[in-house]
Amino acid sequence: MCGIVGCITKESTLEFLIDGLKELEYRGYDSAGLVILEANNSHIYKAIGKIVNLENKVGDFKTSGFSVGIAHTRWATHGKPTEINAHPHSGEISYIVHNGIIENYADIKKELGEEKFVSQTDTETIVHLFEHNLSIYENSLKAFEATIEALEGAYAILLITKSQNDTIYFAKKGSPLILGYSDNKDLFFASSESPLIGKAKEVSYLEDGDYGYISPKTVKIYNQKESKTLSKTKLPSNKQFAQKDGFRFFMEKELYEQSLVSSDTMIGRVKDDYIAFDEIDIALLEGIKEIKICACGTSYHAGLVASYLLQRVAKIRCSVEIASEFRYKEPLLSKDMLFVTISQSGETADTIEALKIAKLAGLKSLCICNVDNSTLIRLSDTSILTRAGIEKGVASTKAFTTQVIVLWMLSLYLAKHKNNISTDELKKHIKALLHTPRVLKVKSTTHEKLTRLSKRYLHGHGFFFIGRDIFYPLALEGALKLKELSYIHAEGYPSGEMKHGPIALADSELFTVALMSKNILYDKIKSNLEELIARDATTLAISPYKFDLSDDFIQIEEHDHEMLEFFEMLVIVQLFSMEIAVRLGNDVDMPRNLAKSVTVE
Ligand code: M6R
Repeated sequence: MCGIVGCITKESTLEFLIDGLKELEYRGYDSAGLVILEANNSHIYKAIGKIVNLENKVGDFKTSGFSVGIAHTRWATHGKPTEINAHPHSGEISYIVHNGIIENYADIKKELGEEKFVSQTDTETIVHLFEHNLSIYENSLKAFEATIEALEGAYAILLITKSQNDTIYFAKKGSPLILGYSDNKDLFFASSESPLIGKAKEVSYLEDGDYGYISPKTVKIYNQKESKTLSKTKLPSNKQFAQKDGFRFFMEKELYEQSLVSSDTMIGRVKDDYIAFDEIDIALLEGIKEIKICACGTSYHAGLVASYLLQRVAKIRCSVEIASEFRYKEPLLSKDMLFVTISQSGETADTIEALKIAKLAGLKSLCICNVDNSTLIRLSDTSILTRAGIEKGVASTKAFTTQVIVLWMLSLYLAKHKNNISTDELKKHIKALLHTPRVLKVKSTTHEKLTRLSKRYLHGHGFFFIGRDIFYPLALEGALKLKELSYIHAEGYPSGEMKHGPIALADSELFTVALMSKNILYDKIKSNLEELIARDATTLAISPYKFDLSDDFIQIEEHDHEMLEFFEMLVIVQLFSMEIAVRLGNDVDMPRNLAKSVTVE
């Protein structure tokens, strides 16, 4: 994770660095830092926590004319979030910011002599190795080249040095890095587009293996020691500012937006009796007999929902894997598999690497993603945008909803394509799809009830969210939301599995949230819940049918389609988790230890 920015400007270096870091804060917020070179004077600032702390540290400092700067917002991987471990890391005359992980840092550190190291980070090795190489080659480019050749792992690196004080050296492998160009010849780097919007007119998306340097006079790019020219793409000039619009948190706003964005996801795609995906070229599906889905976190949960839908509705074999597991299990892949990745950000390192493995094996790929132009979209044969709009809350809400809607539509699209669905059945699904935005509307009575209820669930030794079928991935998602936001231990479980072990935990301090669908296995989950109640567990039942045995009960509407029950329950578990976090005084938008975009392995 982490976010990096850098620039060479005639007058606005500090402003770009601070504003850019604020845009990248979603990538990590353990600490932040920046360094600016004006002639041979360096100005370095670091602070623990959010960018506002760094801004306070910088205080009245201003740049006066031409300067070069690099900056970083950190999600700690090696070493605690302290000022010493915050980037930029310094050598005697050079400074570095880095996003990624250097896997062989311990070996390099040993070779260079551990005494010169002040931090516990992997990153600090790069700057010392560069200066060591500089003393050998006496040429900054050669020294930089030798440095990155020695690095194993993933990185986006920006390095500045007093030995060439108008230049930024850069390298990319496995972590995103974009170069931006303004009209008046200012040059910028950033981990994602957002810091560049409004500053750069055009951008180049660097590829793995690219490295080089920029200065006011030149932009030099190399890959495998060969000089290369970068293609440039226009960047929109207007930032879609994400504002809280009167809500307490971005998460709350995004949760309330789910009704609206779910309609956007369907626009032009849901017809009277079929689903249209202009993005999908029929050639993509030729010879496809099976679907393999890879994703992480909440996106993985959307994939699990899809596995039920694709098999039941489209009658197509489907398996779902956590990307970080898939990468190392030597997967057996065959060319009749369509490889589907799901990601809000499109920058999740494990999902990107999983896709690369599938591509190497010759599989066709489809990416379901919320961020256009992201790495996953650029690497995939085809992509379907979820159209959720910017999601700022670290805990994903509307991105998940739109992923599930796209996957539901994809199941219907494939069912029709494979002639595996009757017209009546398809129409029934489409009717339910079109009703979804209404179900996703947050009812003030439900929100108020959950706010009141939340005070009874702040203690205890943990939560179980239980459900069956598609409500099992929903249980996993409910538990993940609660963990992320409240820091209370929670697990999602298929309710039929409770008696195979977890029920041993049942007592009055074990809280269970039961997702009781009317349309799928109601009697089964009712019995599973009663087994827990008999053992004195404290329970919250969510169901369209009145259920008197639980301690608490939230009634949903009686829908005749399980997906509508799914979405109504989703909003409830999201609100419940958020209100518990509010009562506990936690940071709802930026929970501790997390980052919005997980760009390290
Ligand atoms: O951007 P992605 O969808 O690929 O991210 C995957 C996970 O990191 C993400 O869903 C994470 O689990 C969220 N914090 C969940 O709220």
